[in-house]
Amino acid sequence: MEKKVTVPDILRMKAAGERITMVTAYDCPFARLLDEAGVEILLVGDSLGMVVQGLPTTLPVTLDEMVYHTQLVARGRKRALVLGDLPFGAYQASPQQAVESAVRLVKEGGAEAVKLEGGIAMARTIEAIATIDVPVMGHVGLTPQSVHRMGGHRVQGRRGGHGPGERERLLDDARAVQAAGAFAVVLECMPLDLAAEITAELTIPTIGIGAGAHCDGQVLVLHDLLGLSTDWTPRFAKRYAELGREVVRAAGDYVREVKDGLFPTEAQAFAPPKAKAG
Ligand code: KIV
Repeated sequence: MEKKVTVPDILRMKAAGERITMVTAYDCPFARLLDEAGVEILLVGDSLGMVVQGLPTTLPVTLDEMVYHTQLVARGRKRALVLGDLPFGAYQASPQQAVESAVRLVKEGGAEAVKLEGGIAMARTIEAIATIDVPVMGHVGLTPQSVHRMGGHRVQGRRGGHGPGERERLLDDARAVQAAGAFAVVLECMPLDLAAEITAELTIPTIGIGAGAHCDGQVLVLHDLLGLSTDWTPRFAKRYAELGREVVRAAGDYVREVKDGLFPTEAQAFAPPKAKAG
């Protein structure tokens, strides 16, 4: 096994100009496979609400569900850093609530770091979690837990978009996340020049999704990367495989073979016990 990835390793990677890879994982078998592929950070994202639970937003995902899925991922990985997402309602009430939720993800789930959404408004919360030595990753730009305020899952910080101050607000959010003690920050769905400006200014790594190539690292949702859905993929994602189609083909072959009496054959059956001699 290659050396275990730690939070200090992630910081060193930015300093060394080495790009960081992060992918979401929600269960043990995929955690094993992604770990074997060399992914440095496995994010147990609350995106599981949408890609695993079939919900329209991430908002209903509970802390108990996040703890459970973090356990599955932690069990499957050997080398990668396990990052647990704090779901909506598990950290916004107070820094104390956030600390208690983060402790559950670490203690019960096996997370080595936690992630939460928000910039300036979450600075005290990030500080409180970092103070008890749980590494925190921030998340600014498109923050899916704010879907109702944003009016949908929309690109943030476009010139002429939601007002002249929006780019500056996003820059200030990223600065506040770093100042509060986060070890890294996700930049989601923002113009690539803004992400480049934030990346150049911050000393902590930026991990982009829909934020262009200038970030220090990239994150993709597993189901997008593998083409597990047979219909829609967000514009910023790249499908590196078409596993959804492959699943439909394989399961369809199985259905046909069972119906036609071609499966199972003798190769998949157990021979009857031999009759006793005499
Ligand atoms: O929940 C998630 O998968 C995320 C990524 C999109 C960064 O937060």
